[in-house]
Formats: sequence, C-alpha cells, structure tokens
Amino acid sequence: MKWTVDRIRKLKGKGKIVSLTAYDYSTAQLVDEAGINLIIVGDSLGMTVLGYDSTIPVTMDDMVHHTRAVMRGVTSALVVADMPFLSYQVTPDQAVDNAGRLIKEAGADAVKIEGGAFRADTVRHLIANGIPVMGHIGLTPQSVRAFGGYKVQGRTGAGADQLKADAIALAEAGVFALVLEGIPADLAVDITASVPVPTVGIGAGPGCDGQVLVVHDMLGMYAKFTPKFVKRYAELGGTMRHAFTSYKQEVEDGTFPADEHCY
Ligand code: KIV
Repeated sequence: MKWTVDRIRKLKGKGKIVSLTAYDYSTAQLVDEAGINLIIVGDSLGMTVLGYDSTIPVTMDDMVHHTRAVMRGVTSALVVADMPFLSYQVTPDQAVDNAGRLIKEAGADAVKIEGGAFRADTVRHLIANGIPVMGHIGLTPQSVRAFGGYKVQGRTGAGADQLKADAIALAEAGVFALVLEGIPADLAVDITASVPVPTVGIGAGPGCDGQVLVVHDMLGMYAKFTPKFVKRYAELGGTMRHAFTSYKQEVEDGTFPADEHCY
C-alpha cells in the first residue's frame, strides 16, 4: 500500500518512520523494495551526485529532473522533494510556483523546506494550495554560510528554546512531519514530545519518531566527509573502486570479455 502524508503523520507514537534519500531510478527502486516508508529527494544531491561543495548551487531544474527519476522507481514509499536554495524564500507565491513544479511536473507527493517559525506563512500558503509540506530545522544546510559552517545547532539555552518554538510554529502551520538535523539528542527528545507531528532525525539522536540518512553516506560512497552521526551500513565506495580496477586489469590483459560474454 502506498505511503501517504496521512499514514506518515499517524505513525507518531505508534512506530518508527524509516527514511533515506534517493536521487535516481535504480536506487529509489532498491530503497522502495526494502520497505523504507519515506524517500527524500534531498538537495544533498548537489554534493553527492553533482559534486558541489554545498547544496546552495542546486536548481529547481536539478530537483525536477532527479525527482522524476526517483518517481519512476517507487511504488510504495512517500516521496518528498527538497525545495532548493532561493526557490521558496523570496515570497510565498514563489514557493507555490516552484513547489507546484515538483508536484505537477515531477510527481512528488510532498515538498520539504528549511527554516523555522519565519517560514510559517509560506507553509500555510503551500498547504492552502494543496501542497503537503515537511519542515526542516536545526543544522539546515542551505544556511551554511549564515552558520559559518556545518555546526550543531541548539547547544545554548536560547538556541534550544528557539528551535522548540520553531518546531511548534511549523506544526501549527500544518507541516505533516519535521526533519530535525544536527541538534543535541536531549533537545530532539524535548521537541518530539512538544509537537503533534512526527520528527525525523538526522544527527539528532534516537529520541525522534524516525530517522533519515543520506544514502551515499550510509553506503560509504561519499568520500569527502563522513559526519559523526552517520553509520556506514556498507562500503560500496571500496567495492566499486575494486570493480573498476579489476575491469581495467581484465580488459588490458585480455581476460574480459571471455567466451561466455561473446555472441
Ligand atoms: O538534502 C537532504 O539530503 C536532506 C536530508 C535531511 C535528508 O535534507
């Protein structure tokens, strides 16, 4: 049965939400077949797939292109597409125009936007126009310039209070779920208990209603940097490197193609 925003919302307090990113058809198909509830077409694709240093250069066209590919591979998971930097910050109408592309052209089930209470009007405007929204607070990567780096957020009393107020304001505005990224585990527990919608943590400890990881991180395919919160469930980077060098060797020494590969 297809996961809907309503089914995800109703998991709060009943079961864990399990989420991964995906950016292409083949990965989305494997993630979906594994029974993952929620696939996020994250703008992290700017770093993991497109090779940028941050998510900031990612465009709407990038997101539409990759979301379409993911949708072709998914039958059951709920697919949430990220709205890239400056595609929703300017005005609520701009947000509807761009979110509309992800829903209408790419077929996403919902969109995700970064930011706290100051995004509540935009969230309300999107929802009023029939677009389900996932919030994202804490270490929001599109604000990396403003934060001065990828720094854990909510470590001070004031910072923690602000994040809790942000979560409550976004829940009141109607988000169906909330990503909590890069915040202390005890703050995530407090926020999770304070909002009626599920929280999905990434670098926010075990007390959230669910967890998300970037697929390239958990598969050991992103070589530049592995954050502390990532558990590597496979070392595909090493496996791929070995396959590529074996292939090169076999082509060079004539052992590939062998008889069984010939017509
Ligand atoms: O871009 C991304 O990968 C994200 C994660 C929270 C899933 O936003």
